[in-house]
Amino acid sequence: MTDVIKSIEDLPLEGRRLFLRVDFNVPLDADGKITDDTRIQAALPTIRYAREQKARIILASHLGRPKGKKDPKQSMVPVGERLAELLDTDVVVPDDCVGDGPRKLASDLREGGVMLLENLRFHNEEEADDIDFARQLAALCDVYVNDAFGAAHRAHASVHALPRLVADRAAGFLMKKELDALGNLLASPERPFVAVLGGAKVSDKIAVVDSLLTKVDTLIIGGAMAYTFLAAQGIRLGKSRVEEDRIAVAKRALLKAEARRVEVLLPSDHVVVTEVKPDAPSRILSSGEFPEDGIAVDIGMDTIAAFDRAIRKARTVFWNGPMGIFEMEAFAEGTRRVAQAVAHSGATSVVGGGDSVSALKKSGFLPFVSHVSTGGGASLEFVEGQPLPGVEALKVTE
Ligand code: 3PG
Repeated sequence: MTDVIKSIEDLPLEGRRLFLRVDFNVPLDADGKITDDTRIQAALPTIRYAREQKARIILASHLGRPKGKKDPKQSMVPVGERLAELLDTDVVVPDDCVGDGPRKLASDLREGGVMLLENLRFHNEEEADDIDFARQLAALCDVYVNDAFGAAHRAHASVHALPRLVADRAAGFLMKKELDALGNLLASPERPFVAVLGGAKVSDKIAVVDSLLTKVDTLIIGGAMAYTFLAAQGIRLGKSRVEEDRIAVAKRALLKAEARRVEVLLPSDHVVVTEVKPDAPSRILSSGEFPEDGIAVDIGMDTIAAFDRAIRKARTVFWNGPMGIFEMEAFAEGTRRVAQAVAHSGATSVVGGGDSVSALKKSGFLPFVSHVSTGGGASLEFVEGQPLPGVEALKVTE
């Protein structure tokens, strides 16, 4: 007897009510318009397949963090409209995800018909992994498929409690593609294997640093988290943000890297301002010449060149996180140049995380990346070696 994760292709779907958990947690602007529909597009192969198989499809997702309250600004309605355009079919969105309305609509669904439940997180029970809430969702369906890789690291009712209540459960095509790409990255990377980590906090990334140090040849660290690593080497960068309570773990990570002969590249020069605002005057300074009131907001030209050289030599690259305050155009160059190096490296490349993906998109490099993950947090936890609750719950014993 072994535990396996079935594919949607292993399940009979014709005429059956399929609960398809997707990650339609898409960014919306102030007017509620979707600014990036990548996650909706990414689920289309599974949805189209289910329609071809004549399933009656009940899609479900969270959107934002409404914390158990109904919030019209985080309604799934605009997502349903976009999906209807992409599928060229009607997509009904009831005003809730449980209760009489959705129950009636689910039982009336015709073969190939599609409905999209209202935001699961309008109920606290979703994030609480509540079994009664999961039972109400289970009552809507005969078959469960999870294609929401982006939410697989959350032990929430629709991805964790629910699947275990449905005997016929499986992974969708997107989930499978993500698990294969990340699994291959860790199992048999072609060398040199270079990981590039950025972003604000060491605390968010220390577990992944620790895990990557057992796998990579070179670890590149940029973004504000690099300043804590530099502080661990005794280098203070003026008023740049340092997580004082993480200096010790950063030190331990650097010692581990040395013991394992992993090369760690940290920034050696920086774009420096005295006030963080988009039009602030900036200078490029090396770590040694930092003024007391200086704040680093991006990596400098020497650092870009050093990171670029290392990335271009790689045969495998994993990248997550920006190199500076990427959302401000003036401080986005380091992140953009890393995107370019990853794209031009010719390596097998896997990229996760909103800012890294958006840097690739903005600069037109997205098509040159082998795998762009739809899950920032989920891909990091996978690389950490953590079992993902949403993946574990899909397993069946055969
Ligand atoms: C994501 O955007 O990474 C996923 O949709 C998970 O969202 P969450 O971080 O709000 O749980």
